[in-house]
Amino acid sequence: MPVRQIVIAGNWKMHKTQADSLEFLKGFLPQLSETSDEREVVLCAPFTALSALSKTLHGSRVKIGAQNIHWETSGAYTGEVAGNMLTELGVRYAIVGHSERRQYFGETDETVNWRLKAAQSAGLTPILCVGESKQQRDAGETEALITRQVNQALIDVDQQNLVIAYEPIWAIGTGDTCEAAEANRVIGLIRAQLENAAVPIQYGGSVKPGNVDEIMAQPEIDGALVGGASLAPDDFARIVNFES
Ligand code: PGA
Repeated sequence: MPVRQIVIAGNWKMHKTQADSLEFLKGFLPQLSETSDEREVVLCAPFTALSALSKTLHGSRVKIGAQNIHWETSGAYTGEVAGNMLTELGVRYAIVGHSERRQYFGETDETVNWRLKAAQSAGLTPILCVGESKQQRDAGETEALITRQVNQALIDVDQQNLVIAYEPIWAIGTGDTCEAAEANRVIGLIRAQLENAAVPIQYGGSVKPGNVDEIMAQPEIDGALVGGASLAPDDFARIVNFES
């Protein structure tokens, strides 16, 4: 069995100006001196902060991610950003299909698939987000929904350059974390759909300093996608430095 990469990514969502981002790094970077090189650390920032982060993080172990990417390389797509605009800034990752984009911005399984392929063509590693709502979970639809989301998203996608995040929507930003064992179970189901069983699969949804050790102790869970708790340098440093 190949060793699966551990990937801990912060998703800042629509938070932090350039100045806020640099302030964050002042508090965060000194806390990484003991962090194992086996842990990939990523900050997915707003587009407007990527350039400043890139300059400051040049040569650092922290990688930069975007939160979206368009499927075309250029064109009349007001408000969108293409892959080469990101790679020019040293960006390495792009979140694709986050539930907030699916819910508020009309993202579908089809557009998620297009964005994944565009990210890979640009040389980025996409972080594909999947997850069920509370209503879908209560209706017993979790397994079918996740299976559909994964299979539709991954049509013609290279599984050698991919991260997946299982993010149950009811656990995002609510403080209501999915039980670690249940997250482990669903992530096992996701892995069973893959051709490449070594794809790192993260859990996301109210990951915090207080629950990260338990989450990361689960055998199927290879990392975390962290929203709220990635905004504070001390909290995110504690998460990256989870105890194993
Ligand atoms: P949260 O967000 O950690 O604030 O729950 C996670 C996410 O949306 O990626």
